[in-house]
Amino acid sequence: MVNVFKLGYAEFCTKDIKALTNYYTEVMGFTLIEQADNGKSYISSGVDHHNIVVTPSDSSHLSKIGWQVGGELSLKEVGKQLKEHGIISELKTDSEPGISQLLELQEPGGTILNLYKKIETPSPGYKESGIVPNKLGHIAIGVKDAKKTVDFYKQVLGFWETDKIGDIATFLTCNSDHHTLNILQSKRPIMHHIAFELRSFEHQKDSSDKLAKNKIPVLWGPSRHTAGHNIASYHHDPDQHYIELFSDLDVYIPELDYMDPRPWHESLPQRPKVWEELSYWGTNFEQDLIEIVMKEEELTIR
Ligand SMILES: [Fe+2]
Repeated sequence: MVNVFKLGYAEFCTKDIKALTNYYTEVMGFTLIEQADNGKSYISSGVDHHNIVVTPSDSSHLSKIGWQVGGELSLKEVGKQLKEHGIISELKTDSEPGISQLLELQEPGGTILNLYKKIETPSPGYKESGIVPNKLGHIAIGVKDAKKTVDFYKQVLGFWETDKIGDIATFLTCNSDHHTLNILQSKRPIMHHIAFELRSFEHQKDSSDKLAKNKIPVLWGPSRHTAGHNIASYHHDPDQHYIELFSDLDVYIPELDYMDPRPWHESLPQRPKVWEELSYWGTNFEQDLIEIVMKEEELTIR
């Protein structure tokens, strides 16, 4: 099995490269590492060459997700394993700055993935201004055949399933974070939201103050979710993508198949389960998050 262990980067196409680059560098407080001749911005959250890539385009959408791969398999061998599962991939050399070799493929849900073993680590560190999250935490995507897509991530890329919300959302992880990927059933491929990890609830409060200073309203939250128990709040980036800022996410222990115990867990030990509600605190606004998949006109099409 392929050993994916880290959510590396998200690449966005955008109609307004300046606005989205400015959002990630000035509002979010990440560091612009490189602006390529083709106009692409490579932005680091602190260590890697890039965790966000912004590409000029005539439409605004999530275009690629990068995952870092460990284990003994070379990328060529990973490609062979993918082929055994009917997935065609292309091994690319020096196609992106900071990554000498990557494997590009389209997973069953339609998302383009880049798998890579090594990325340069210029390590610009954390800025003194802006929100400055710890890292890119997870991405939620909507697909037409959620079961098939979930099976691909579990059976081919080695993800664990940590929770579900009804038959709407499946939470998957490739490491100890409760989820690094969230797959939703939707009428067509969408990016539901992308999420960044904050240090604490205090940082969550500061992030809302910083968003307010930049005239970006907080749309929902903060509130504690059921699945993952993360405290989360949501806002829009300049392209109207839903951005989640979260803290206090559950730590999953694969060897035990339960979450590292916390006083607020409903069960001890808290094992992966199917939840009926989104909010542990009972705040109704979170229903809106589910309704996003119904409001296609608001969605970012991939
Ligand atoms: Fe999320």
